[in-house]
Amino acid sequence: MYKEQVDMTRVPRHVAIIMDGNGRWAKALGKERTYGHAEGAQRAIEVMTAAVDLGIEYLTLYTFSTENWNRPEAEVSAIMSLLLKYLEEELFIKRNARFRVIGEIDRLPKPVQDVVRYMEERTKDHTATCMVLALSYSSKWEMTNAVKQIAAKVKDGEMSIDDITDKDIDANLSTSFMPDPDLMIRTGGEQRLSNYLLWQCAYSEFYFTETYWPDFREEDLCKAIVDYQNRQRRFGKTGEQVEDKK
Ligand code: IPE
Ligand code: IPE
Ligand code: MG
Repeated sequence: MYKEQVDMTRVPRHVAIIMDGNGRWAKALGKERTYGHAEGAQRAIEVMTAAVDLGIEYLTLYTFSTENWNRPEAEVSAIMSLLLKYLEEELFIKRNARFRVIGEIDRLPKPVQDVVRYMEERTKDHTATCMVLALSYSSKWEMTNAVKQIAAKVKDGEMSIDDITDKDIDANLSTSFMPDPDLMIRTGGEQRLSNYLLWQCAYSEFYFTETYWPDFREEDLCKAIVDYQNRQRRFGKTGEQVEDKK
């Protein structure tokens, strides 16, 4: 059991997940892609619960990318309906979990916008894991926005060009309320970021698994964490320097 191997004193603060493989999982069973999304939605809720138990502070789930708007309309609307079905306040209340969204929320159907805004407000004082859904999100969209916001401040004389630091860029991203991901997991076999948290992953540890998202369970999360805990994060230093600090 990987769960027993997790060192609870060194759990990653922020775990980001690219939940990929729903369509292929369903296809392998001879079912519609949307069946895979429905099953995947259940895994998202289960993994959120597991994250609470593990004491993970932030869990950011890539749920729908800017590029995913280019999928067939029926698939897009099926995913939107699943959001309405699975975003249950009860569970978040029971687990004291917080809910946040990042992304171009205005593009979502109005009922989905209402639900996510309500959930954010309803759970804002909760202190367990913050589950962040990236919805209609892409890093390039987010970084373009940050550039515009900073440029506007310079134009208004609020800051000068020479004062701009990486902290200002952090502060103008939609993720400004949380630390960068320690661990980035991608299911479904692909080894790419697909426009997810590009800036924030500068020093994240990557974990790729062939497992399709609808098959990803608490044990798989624990396995990824154990793998992460066996790595040495050097942040540009030498291994000896990092060892000495211990
Ligand atoms: C991930 O699964 C879910 C979304 C992108 C919404 P996919 O739907 O991409 O599944 P595959 O990659 O086609 O198997
Ligand atoms: C990434 O998966 C987006 C989400 C998981 C929401 P995709 O299936 O859209 O990624 P690509 O297009 O294959 O890279
Ligand atoms: Mg995919």
